[in-house]
Amino acid sequence: MLVETFLTSDQLIQRDKAVVTPAIYRYTDVALVRGEGIFVYDAEGRRYYDMAAGIATMNVGHSHPRVVAAIAEQAKTLIHGAAHVGYMAPYVEMVEKLLTLAPPPLNQGKGVLLNSGSEAVETAIKLARAITGRSMVLAFLDSFHGRPMGALALTGSSSGYRRHLASLLTGVEHVPYPNCYRCAFGHGSRTPDACCGQWRNFIQLTLERLVHPDDLAAIIVEPIAGEGGYLVPPDDFLPALREICDRTGALLIADEVQTGLGRTGRWFAVEHWGVTPDIMALGKAIGGGLPLGAVLARRDLMDAWWPAAHGSTFGGNPVACRAGLETIAIMEEEGLLANAVAVGEHIQTRFRAAQATLPLIGQVRGMGLMVAVDLVNDSGKPITVDAVKQVIKHLGEAGVLMTKCGPSALRLAPPLILSQEQADAAVDIILHVLTSLQDELR
Ligand SMILES: Cc1ncc(COP(=O)(O)O)c(C=O)c1O
Repeated sequence: MLVETFLTSDQLIQRDKAVVTPAIYRYTDVALVRGEGIFVYDAEGRRYYDMAAGIATMNVGHSHPRVVAAIAEQAKTLIHGAAHVGYMAPYVEMVEKLLTLAPPPLNQGKGVLLNSGSEAVETAIKLARAITGRSMVLAFLDSFHGRPMGALALTGSSSGYRRHLASLLTGVEHVPYPNCYRCAFGHGSRTPDACCGQWRNFIQLTLERLVHPDDLAAIIVEPIAGEGGYLVPPDDFLPALREICDRTGALLIADEVQTGLGRTGRWFAVEHWGVTPDIMALGKAIGGGLPLGAVLARRDLMDAWWPAAHGSTFGGNPVACRAGLETIAIMEEEGLLANAVAVGEHIQTRFRAAQATLPLIGQVRGMGLMVAVDLVNDSGKPITVDAVKQVIKHLGEAGVLMTKCGPSALRLAPPLILSQEQADAAVDIILHVLTSLQDELR
């Protein structure tokens, strides 16, 4: 059992490459052996600032002693029972807790637990279609909703995800997300407050020419596009979607898989715009590092969903629920939402200040501890995807782990326990690496 402990990082990586498909892309050549707080360590004991946090997941950091204890306690009690077989306290407590955190009137709704963000997204679509009896779904370019064939049909951030996969879930039309830095309508390099607003006309046109409003089951949207580039939309975007749904009888689905559970400084990002969706898809952080997804929806919608309409063997696994509940308790006790706002703003300020001497940084954007640092060449064009991946590999070697978002941005989504001092140390390393690569990347 201890054999792995004696592997070097190189040995581990070679063994992995021999048996694991290359379809799983690795941003770094780091062997993740141990985690503690905001750090992970490799087989040689090297320490890395984890600005990826298991891809925007480990909100209270790695192996938090309270989360570890909650997992162990539940594992000793009941590892798995399946919600179809009977009732389990961690399951109901998790749904109750998520509802309590949700904005009104969704907090009066009901929920169902799944295993992942993608499963939550597909469940949300299934619910919307089942209850409205309508077939069409509007989704956005620059959006990411997952990789399985149903969720992939909604994802619009890169054609690479769809390569050779022609016939996905039908009945989905995509319209442009307000991407004010790389505007689909030719007005680039803007911030959301100067948005051209063409996205609104495009939706209108789509409803006139392509999707009859009577057929529209749902609009699915990320309140802040995650994988697509940490794009914060203009203030009128989500309210406009709410209005369209109210007018057409369609349901508004917020995909809060990445933005949810405090990452942006509110429990759910829709709260920044005072918009309440009819259905919300959740994942990532809610399982405290274990696989857990959830869908919350208006009570009337959930109650109209007939018995046995949906299911999942592992969905709402009690160990994952306990890990998630403990994570939420820690977040509440330690005021981690406020920390996400303060440290996130500090990180953005640091990168903006660096733009004066580092023209490689084209734009810094995001909200809370979702921060994107968009990299451009001398003519202001995005550096190539391969170049961003190289930058991230260099950062890994320098002791900072992260992934990318959009075509050319570094994605910082650290644990929400990150202190300002720790953030400064990580930003110093990132700026040092960017400075050393600046000439090469022009
Ligand atoms: C907004 C959003 N939705 C859905 C997903 C899919 O979640 P999972 O990878 O857990 O299936 C992701 C994953 O990155 C996401 O960011």
